Amino acid sequence: MTIPQDFSSLFFKSKLPDVGTTIFTVMSRRAAEQGAVNVGQGFPDYPIDSRLAACVTDAVAGGFNQYAPMQGSVALRAAIAAKIVAAGGRRVDPDTEITVTCGGTESIYSAIQAVVGAGDEAIVFDPAYDAYDPAIRLAGGRCIHIPLEAPDFRYDWDRVRAAISERTRLIIINNPLNPACTVATAADLEELAAVTRDRPIAVLADEVYEHVQYDRRVHQSVMNHAELGRKSFAVYSFGKTLHITGWRVGYCVAPPLLTTELRKVHQFNAFSISAPLQEAIALFLQRHPDAWRDVAAFFSAKRDLLLERLSGSGLVLPPAQGTYFQLAGYSRLPGPLAACNDVEFTERLINEAGVAVIPLSPFYRDPPAGMRFVRLCVAKQDATLIEAAVRINAYTAGTR
Ligand SMILES: Cc1ncc(COP(=O)(O)O)c(C=O)c1O
Repeated sequence: MTIPQDFSSLFFKSKLPDVGTTIFTVMSRRAAEQGAVNVGQGFPDYPIDSRLAACVTDAVAGGFNQYAPMQGSVALRAAIAAKIVAAGGRRVDPDTEITVTCGGTESIYSAIQAVVGAGDEAIVFDPAYDAYDPAIRLAGGRCIHIPLEAPDFRYDWDRVRAAISERTRLIIINNPLNPACTVATAADLEELAAVTRDRPIAVLADEVYEHVQYDRRVHQSVMNHAELGRKSFAVYSFGKTLHITGWRVGYCVAPPLLTTELRKVHQFNAFSISAPLQEAIALFLQRHPDAWRDVAAFFSAKRDLLLERLSGSGLVLPPAQGTYFQLAGYSRLPGPLAACNDVEFTERLINEAGVAVIPLSPFYRDPPAGMRFVRLCVAKQDATLIEAAVRINAYTAGTR
């Protein structure tokens, strides 16, 4: 018998046949190939805080080089609990309510596997971060997508009520919302509490951009909501808060029963997270307990710089409410450009302007026909943002 090259097809069917490489990886690769300015994928292109780098050296020298505890380093969980209180949150028990995971992504995956079973349904809002749907399907569940419409991306709670069924076990809300750059209001949280009340539905709140809210907005966390706090997994990421996306350290805060179930998954998936990196973050937060407080101001200045530099570009720029992204609409550019769908527009921008951005339609199961927005990342050096704006301005001016 000859074994074909593609011999895997002999034995099993792909569980995720439609899943390819993420749009972020594709655009970063294209940016490198084209020599384009990359304001697409969400990662900082500036150095990390040297005091944080020094903590890594101290942690390694201090002997934190073997397996960390499964649920997360004792020092880091204590530092997280202290940070939550300092940020105005409730007292959380580090032993029973905090689990350190491989980035926010692993918290999301583990929470979904913990509560979604075969035949269950989970509701997500599009545009949705791309990790939710595959994790729900790997759990054997069905992902119900509710679209939010540009440019406001408001929640339609009647639509949520209509989408809930006997089989609904989870609602995922991302606040602040990447890629829409909007934030949920206190009223949204009240609605979320109302639609899940007296039902066997848990909430997964992806709050990785908790500290990145602009214009004096106050973060509305499920953790601080009396009712939602008892049924929610809340997910966070030091990648976003400390500008270290490559360290892959995040955490989940959830009530003890949910935490117990999440840890059962985490234990046999990641098991535990890099010991010296956890210890380094703990040391950093002990030495500089306010280090996270300037994050909003830091990104706000970058958002404002980009808005100011693009103000003559002809792009529609609804100021981001949160996240370290900014939307740019191109519906008012000359006909041929405005006629492009967002993937075509992104292609033109990278090929003709030398700037890599991210289209919004890949974040929808059914992309809205008239989507005319792309996403730019502001977590970049000022020089990168200025160069991106110079290139975009020159390009749009040339088309008028
Ligand atoms: C909305 C959202 N959730 C989760 C994540 C994942 O966070 P991490 O990089 O810590 O896994 C990201 C990262 O881009 C994100 O934008």
